Amino acid sequence: MSTWQHKDLLGIRELSRADIDLIHETARGFRQVINRPIKKVPSLRGRTVINLFVEPSTRTRASFELAAKRLSADVVQLDGNSSSFTKGESLKDTGRNLEAMHADYIVLRHSAAGASHFLADRLGASIINAGDGAHEHPTQALLDTFTMRERLGDLTGKHVLIVGDILFSRVARSNIWALLKLGAKVTLVGPRTLLPERFTELGENVTVRHELDSVLPEADVIMLLRIQHERQKKAMFPSLGEYISLFGVTPQRFAECRPDTLIMHPGPINRGVELDNALADGANSVVLEQVTNGLAVRMAILYLLGGGNAQELQS
Ligand code: CP
Repeated sequence: MSTWQHKDLLGIRELSRADIDLIHETARGFRQVINRPIKKVPSLRGRTVINLFVEPSTRTRASFELAAKRLSADVVQLDGNSSSFTKGESLKDTGRNLEAMHADYIVLRHSAAGASHFLADRLGASIINAGDGAHEHPTQALLDTFTMRERLGDLTGKHVLIVGDILFSRVARSNIWALLKLGAKVTLVGPRTLLPERFTELGENVTVRHELDSVLPEADVIMLLRIQHERQKKAMFPSLGEYISLFGVTPQRFAECRPDTLIMHPGPINRGVELDNALADGANSVVLEQVTNGLAVRMAILYLLGGGNAQELQS
């Protein structure tokens, strides 16, 4: 097994296949830890994790807090609305002040693409990108591909559909990089305004389609994305009803899939828009499994960035 060589986790694009394998192998160990009656290990005792969330979050923020606590680190939560960002303090000054308190890790969610790279270049603390604009959301892709590997085994040749607002989605970009590195085929599906043809330039195993029905029978996994209204400056399609009629996954549409096709969603789900209510909670949905796996994957990332050794974890 390879060893971890990075100070930060900024994006999937910078990771090798071996890095992804190492994170997933380490997360497998932590899956066992989080199922024990006593869910805590002392690996990061004395370390400090600061969650700096300048954009809203439920899953990522809560699971990073829990992951740090399960590893016995001290954790501080900072929100954009209640921090001195509201008084005009810059990201650089904020980061330098947090580092002056001996923060070992800063987990950053920010609306600006590149915000995590900006801090990583200026601070000695490990920076973890918890989502930067429409650029990357690496821990989401790591937990998504971990969930697929747990369910499907080797992803080589597996066919993953990513459906919805691709243009504004950091989840889509990180998943495309991760899936290509793991040997999967990716078909992106959405309206032309939310899915430019240039996405095919990401790799020969990426296909762009603007209609859903004909590709459903080929899918091993369907990953639905919500429409990212917060990043859109104008209406990107005529009406929600039209979007649902063309791209919403309903029981009638899903009947065209193989019976074992997995349904995934990073959350939050807009029920009845990109995904029907019954399917979101149905037997093919692994949405909550993704959330549970997110805790193990984020423990693995904090552990490896802190110098932890995956082999020691298994012994
Ligand atoms: N998937 C995801 O990033 O969810 P949150 O915005 O709730 O963290």
